[in-house]
Amino acid sequence: MNLLDQINRENVPGHIAIIMDGNGRWAKKQGQERLYGHSIGVESVRETLTAAKNIGVKYLTLYAFSTENWNRPKAEIDGLMNLLVRTISNEVDELNSSGVRLHSIGDRDGLPQECREELASAMQRTSHNDSIHLILALNYSARWEITRAARLIAEAAQQGELDPAAIDDELISSRMSTADFPDPELLIRTSGEYRLSNFLLWQIAYTELHFTSVLWPDFKEEDLYKAVLDYQSRERRFGMVSEQL
Ligand code: FPP
Repeated sequence: MNLLDQINRENVPGHIAIIMDGNGRWAKKQGQERLYGHSIGVESVRETLTAAKNIGVKYLTLYAFSTENWNRPKAEIDGLMNLLVRTISNEVDELNSSGVRLHSIGDRDGLPQECREELASAMQRTSHNDSIHLILALNYSARWEITRAARLIAEAAQQGELDPAAIDDELISSRMSTADFPDPELLIRTSGEYRLSNFLLWQIAYTELHFTSVLWPDFKEEDLYKAVLDYQSRERRFGMVSEQL
């Protein structure tokens, strides 16, 4: 039986988040520049999005550019931003016609103007879709987001709009950039690294983690199905005992 047929459609994670890692190493293995790895990585994004949509995933969050990525050589940063702008511009028609709604999380104000504009226009264009939500984490880090939420909450308390005693999980979630999305059930990281790299730290409290040694440009449909099957083999207890489930 192929992998797709083994997936229980009643228990597909509604939200999958992915740390797409290994583009640079993949390119080096091919004797190519790092940017070539990123551009082939876009193929993996396309294939993963299609496969996720087909099995009924409703939210797919991709870590495309972290706040720490600004420390990379300027040529790589410029190349990545260009790739993002070109990809969004080239793909928006197809995303729209296949019912994908595009969102972004992260500090949009810190992105180059062209990138901000392309993103805003694609988000607007696709805003009526709901087959699957594609959430690009751009200029994102979890600590940036948590710090910002703390500031927003403190400001509201200072203005007398909020009683500090009323601050709970739900209120904090509502001040995160992911406020409109459910928490991920499954987080995947490629390239054999076992780190969370400042990604969705608040939202992954109960998320199942799947690590694979596959480098992102090699990540294909089957690799997504393997991750989902791994997820389906786990028992999610949320702090309870098996008998309570
Ligand atoms: C990590 O590999 C990858 C990135 C920092 C960028 C990922 C971006 C893309 C795949 C393009 C995304 C495009 C869209 C439209 C979402 P790395 O460079 O850290 O690889 P390494 O660890 O081997 O050096």
